[in-house]
Amino acid sequence: MLCRLLYVSRLSDAGASRITSTMQDILIVSALRNREDAITGFLLGDGERFVQVLEGPDLRVTACYERILKDARHEDVRLRLLVGIDERRFSRWSMCGLYLSDLDDTVLSPPDIGFDVGGAGAGALLQHLEGVALRHAHRLDALHERLIAAS
Ligand SMILES: Cc1cc2nc3c(=O)[nH]c(=O)nc-3n(C[C@H](O)[C@H](O)[C@H](O)COP(=O)(O)O)c2cc1C
Repeated sequence: MLCRLLYVSRLSDAGASRITSTMQDILIVSALRNREDAITGFLLGDGERFVQVLEGPDLRVTACYERILKDARHEDVRLRLLVGIDERRFSRWSMCGLYLSDLDDTVLSPPDIGFDVGGAGAGALLQHLEGVALRHAHRLDALHERLIAAS
Protein backbone atom coordinates (compact mmCIF):
# COMPACT_ATOMS: atom_id res chain seq x y z
CA MET A 1 0.00 0.00 0.00
CA LEU A 2 1.16 3.51 -0.79
CA CYS A 3 1.33 6.14 1.89
CA ARG A 4 2.22 9.78 2.34
CA LEU A 5 4.15 10.98 5.38
CA LEU A 6 4.79 14.59 6.33
CA TYR A 7 6.86 15.81 9.24
CA VAL A 8 8.44 19.00 10.45
CA SER A 9 11.63 19.30 12.47
CA ARG A 10 14.10 21.82 13.78
CA LEU A 11 17.70 21.98 12.67
CA SER A 12 20.02 20.95 15.47
CA ASP A 13 23.17 22.96 16.16
CA ALA A 14 25.08 20.19 14.38
CA GLY A 15 23.04 20.71 11.23
CA ALA A 16 22.81 24.49 11.41
CA SER A 17 26.54 25.06 11.69
CA ARG A 18 26.93 24.09 8.04
CA ILE A 19 23.45 24.16 6.62
CA THR A 20 24.22 24.26 2.91
CA SER A 21 26.44 21.20 3.01
CA THR A 22 24.07 19.51 5.46
CA MET A 23 21.25 19.91 2.97
CA GLN A 24 23.47 18.68 0.14
CA ASP A 25 24.66 15.66 2.15
CA ILE A 26 21.09 14.73 3.07
CA LEU A 27 19.86 15.04 -0.50
CA ILE A 28 22.68 12.96 -2.02
CA VAL A 29 22.01 10.03 0.32
CA SER A 30 18.23 10.39 0.12
CA ALA A 31 17.98 10.61 -3.67
CA LEU A 32 19.79 7.30 -4.10
CA ARG A 33 18.37 5.44 -1.11
CA ASN A 34 14.80 6.50 -1.85
CA ARG A 35 15.14 5.47 -5.46
CA GLU A 36 16.03 1.95 -4.30
CA ASP A 37 12.97 2.01 -2.01
CA ALA A 38 10.53 3.46 -4.58
CA ILE A 39 10.11 6.49 -2.33
CA THR A 40 9.58 9.95 -3.76
CA GLY A 41 9.23 13.32 -2.08
CA PHE A 42 10.46 16.77 -1.33
CA LEU A 43 12.40 18.52 1.43
CA LEU A 44 12.32 22.19 2.28
CA GLY A 45 14.62 23.92 4.74
CA ASP A 46 14.63 27.53 5.83
CA GLY A 47 17.69 27.68 8.08
CA GLU A 48 15.67 26.83 11.18
CA ARG A 49 13.29 24.11 10.13
CA PHE A 50 12.82 21.22 7.81
CA VAL A 51 9.55 20.12 6.26
CA GLN A 52 9.63 16.87 4.32
CA VAL A 53 7.09 14.78 2.49
CA LEU A 54 7.76 11.13 1.70
CA GLU A 55 5.55 8.99 -0.54
CA GLY A 56 5.91 5.30 -1.32
CA PRO A 57 5.28 1.76 -0.10
CA ASP A 58 4.17 2.16 3.51
CA LEU A 59 6.68 -0.21 5.13
CA ARG A 60 9.56 1.44 3.31
CA VAL A 61 8.38 4.93 4.12
CA THR A 62 8.05 4.11 7.82
CA ALA A 63 11.48 2.42 7.83
CA CYS A 64 12.93 5.54 6.22
CA TYR A 65 11.20 7.75 8.78
CA GLU A 66 12.65 5.61 11.60
CA ARG A 67 16.14 6.39 10.29
CA ILE A 68 15.30 10.07 9.87
CA LEU A 69 14.03 10.23 13.48
CA LYS A 70 17.44 9.14 14.77
CA ASP A 71 19.38 11.67 12.71
CA ALA A 72 21.31 14.15 14.88
CA ARG A 73 21.26 16.86 12.23
CA HIS A 74 17.77 17.78 13.34
CA GLU A 75 15.58 17.48 16.44
CA ASP A 76 12.03 17.96 17.65
CA VAL A 77 10.78 15.86 14.73
CA ARG A 78 7.00 15.97 14.59
CA LEU A 79 4.86 13.75 12.46
CA ARG A 80 2.12 15.84 10.90
CA LEU A 81 0.53 13.42 8.46
CA LEU A 82 0.57 9.70 7.68
CA VAL A 83 -2.14 8.55 5.30
CA GLY A 84 -2.76 5.86 2.72
CA ILE A 85 -2.91 7.25 -0.80
CA ASP A 86 -3.96 6.09 -4.26
CA GLU A 87 -1.76 8.52 -6.12
CA ARG A 88 1.45 10.35 -5.39
CA ARG A 89 1.53 14.15 -5.36
CA PHE A 90 5.34 14.24 -5.29
CA SER A 91 6.37 11.70 -7.89
CA ARG A 92 8.96 13.70 -9.77
CA TRP A 93 12.04 13.14 -7.61
CA SER A 94 13.22 10.27 -5.41
CA MET A 95 14.21 13.19 -3.18
CA CYS A 96 14.99 16.73 -3.99
CA GLY A 97 14.84 19.92 -2.03
CA LEU A 98 15.62 23.54 -1.50
CA TYR A 99 17.18 25.59 1.19
CA LEU A 100 15.08 28.71 0.94
CA SER A 101 17.81 31.18 1.80
CA ASP A 102 19.77 29.90 -1.17
CA LEU A 103 17.23 31.36 -3.50
CA ASP A 104 17.52 34.75 -5.05
CA ASP A 105 14.87 37.17 -3.73
CA THR A 106 13.74 37.83 -7.26
CA VAL A 107 13.07 34.13 -7.82
CA LEU A 108 11.37 33.70 -4.50
CA SER A 109 7.84 35.00 -4.18
CA PRO A 110 7.00 36.54 -0.78
CA PRO A 111 4.83 33.69 0.55
CA ASP A 112 7.83 31.38 0.28
CA ILE A 113 9.97 33.37 2.67
CA GLY A 114 9.65 31.49 5.89
CA PHE A 115 6.80 29.14 6.57
CA ASP A 116 4.81 28.79 9.69
CA VAL A 117 5.43 25.11 10.19
CA GLY A 118 4.28 25.29 13.80
CA GLY A 119 0.91 26.80 13.05
CA ALA A 120 0.09 25.55 9.58
CA GLY A 121 -2.12 22.50 9.10
CA ALA A 122 -0.77 19.47 7.25
CA GLY A 123 -2.91 20.27 4.20
CA ALA A 124 -1.55 23.80 3.99
CA LEU A 125 2.03 22.57 4.39
CA LEU A 126 1.55 20.03 1.61
CA GLN A 127 0.13 22.66 -0.67
CA HIS A 128 3.00 24.98 0.16
CA LEU A 129 5.57 22.28 -0.62
CA GLU A 130 3.81 21.45 -3.86
CA GLY A 131 3.71 25.09 -4.91
CA VAL A 132 7.41 25.65 -4.23
CA ALA A 133 8.32 22.38 -5.97
CA LEU A 134 6.31 23.28 -9.05
CA ARG A 135 7.65 26.81 -9.24
CA HIS A 136 11.23 25.59 -9.16
CA ALA A 137 10.65 22.32 -11.01
CA HIS A 138 13.23 22.86 -13.76
CA ARG A 139 15.96 23.88 -11.38
CA LEU A 140 15.03 20.90 -9.17
CA ASP A 141 15.10 18.50 -12.14
CA ALA A 142 18.67 19.57 -12.82
CA LEU A 143 19.59 19.26 -9.15
CA HIS A 144 18.07 15.78 -8.97
CA GLU A 145 20.11 14.65 -11.96
CA ARG A 146 23.25 15.91 -10.27
CA LEU A 147 22.33 14.19 -7.00
CA ILE A 148 21.82 10.84 -8.69
CA ALA A 149 25.02 11.26 -10.68
CA ALA A 150 26.96 12.16 -7.54
CA SER A 151 25.90 9.07 -5.66
C1 LIG B 1 15.93 16.40 7.28
C2 LIG B 1 16.42 15.03 6.87
C3 LIG B 1 15.81 14.37 5.82
C4 LIG B 1 16.24 13.11 5.42
N1 LIG B 1 15.62 12.45 4.40
C5 LIG B 1 15.98 11.20 4.07
C6 LIG B 1 15.30 10.49 3.03
O1 LIG B 1 14.37 10.98 2.38
N2 LIG B 1 15.75 9.23 2.74
C7 LIG B 1 16.78 8.63 3.40
O2 LIG B 1 17.11 7.49 3.08
N3 LIG B 1 17.44 9.30 4.36
C8 LIG B 1 17.08 10.56 4.70
N4 LIG B 1 17.76 11.24 5.67
C9 LIG B 1 19.01 10.65 6.20
C10 LIG B 1 18.73 9.58 7.26
O3 LIG B 1 18.52 10.21 8.50
C11 LIG B 1 19.95 8.63 7.35
O4 LIG B 1 21.11 9.36 7.66
C12 LIG B 1 20.18 7.87 6.05
O5 LIG B 1 18.98 7.29 5.60
C13 LIG B 1 21.23 6.77 6.21
O6 LIG B 1 20.83 5.90 7.22
P1 LIG B 1 21.80 4.71 7.71
O7 LIG B 1 23.11 5.34 8.05
O8 LIG B 1 21.09 4.14 8.92
O9 LIG B 1 21.89 3.73 6.58
C14 LIG B 1 17.33 12.50 6.10
C15 LIG B 1 17.93 13.18 7.16
C16 LIG B 1 17.48 14.42 7.56
C17 LIG B 1 18.16 15.13 8.70
